[in-house]
Amino acid sequence: MTRQDTNSSNHYAPNRRDVIAGGSAAAVGAFLPSASWAQTPRVRMDIVTFAQDATRLAKFEAAVKNMKDRSNPNDPRGWLRNARAHRRYCSVDPSDPSQIHFCYWFLAWHRAYIWVTERKIREISSDQTFSYPYWNWSSDRRIPQAYARAGSPLARAIRSTPPRGLRDAEVGYRRDDPALAALGVEALGARMFEASTGDRIGRSFGGISRPNPEGAYDNAFPEGTPHGPVHNYVGGDMRDFATAARDPIFFAHHGNLDRLWETWRRDPAHKATEPTSSAFLDHTFPFIWLDGSVIQVPMRDLFDTQKLGYVYDNLDVFRPGAPVVVAAAQAASNSLPSVGTSKVKVPFSAQGAADENERKILEITDVAAPTTAITVGVYLKTPQTPPDEMGVNVGAFSAVLAGGKVAWPSKTLSFDITDAAKRFAGQEITVDLIPYRIRAEGVEESYPKIKYG
Ligand code: C2O
Repeated sequence: MTRQDTNSSNHYAPNRRDVIAGGSAAAVGAFLPSASWAQTPRVRMDIVTFAQDATRLAKFEAAVKNMKDRSNPNDPRGWLRNARAHRRYCSVDPSDPSQIHFCYWFLAWHRAYIWVTERKIREISSDQTFSYPYWNWSSDRRIPQAYARAGSPLARAIRSTPPRGLRDAEVGYRRDDPALAALGVEALGARMFEASTGDRIGRSFGGISRPNPEGAYDNAFPEGTPHGPVHNYVGGDMRDFATAARDPIFFAHHGNLDRLWETWRRDPAHKATEPTSSAFLDHTFPFIWLDGSVIQVPMRDLFDTQKLGYVYDNLDVFRPGAPVVVAAAQAASNSLPSVGTSKVKVPFSAQGAADENERKILEITDVAAPTTAITVGVYLKTPQTPPDEMGVNVGAFSAVLAGGKVAWPSKTLSFDITDAAKRFAGQEITVDLIPYRIRAEGVEESYPKIKYG
């Protein structure tokens, strides 16, 4: 089933106010060819579906190749110039006013970025039906073939993907807890878009305002996981925000996050928590268009994808019809050494807190910044856990690089352990931090200890 808007009166008619810096009438015309605005929204597809049409895929590949072949990094029709926007707004200090990560711009800015990139490809390929296909990593735990085929411009990127597939915890799938498993991606359980205070950011869907009085910037729920671990898993360019958008899979990864935002906001109670302040709505995001002009994408136009001209082929977490991935058994002997361990008693009096849903939350506090890109699984063990088993995996966190340094805003990490807390009530359990391999085989696998608590 695809969702397609047949209401052709639902046109998006941007006006001059939307286009400021460099905003000549020519820039408006170049960016917004009026004919294409008035069309029925295009369907953004899962890459697996998209690639079933060889001609469609070939046009996409040819356009990306055309952009990549422009090796001058200043060429506005080039791939590198397009990728530079990400370095500019994502690879700066978490507290930098222009940083769009770690705050409530995260989902919207990336939505605008995919949208601008998609329109560039549409112009270059002259394929007005094009929409950027997403990577459903809940169903496809490895890089899909169309983004991985040797020789394809879509795979032409620096990567260091390990041979394993993505683990459940890296894509936010909580198989250990029926209530969380039902969400598909744990972050979809967030009740609020905007975090009211710094210590709520990690449980919010969209993040905190920027600026905010506390100067608190941190990963919102989906930005932490699955967002970070998938970057690290692909590796190479994707492991560093300064280069991530050079890899065509970047827009496919963020496409899936964008799709999950739509999934989340299908619930009117969720949608109702999205910010309405003018500080939020009147914000605009600048991008460079193909002719070198600056175009401004207004925040208030970024909520309704139909106005933006696209809808998703479906909003289910797992691809309909695809079997739910069965995770390979995770034996301790197969794993990397723990980078941190501590013992807590269940129920958690000092370290645990119940959130507004009466969930039991394990907080790991005072986590020192890791010194390298890393993705870490959080495991709970009881004295009865057999030594060759890793225990219950209650989540993962990651540190991604930004310009070669770790981008690490988080002091406190929180993990929902409601189901495990029931099972382990009264026992002393060990919280073990076990890194996942995020490098192609044979490369370094030792990590410094992570201090916390
Ligand atoms: Cu701005 Cu996934 O990064």
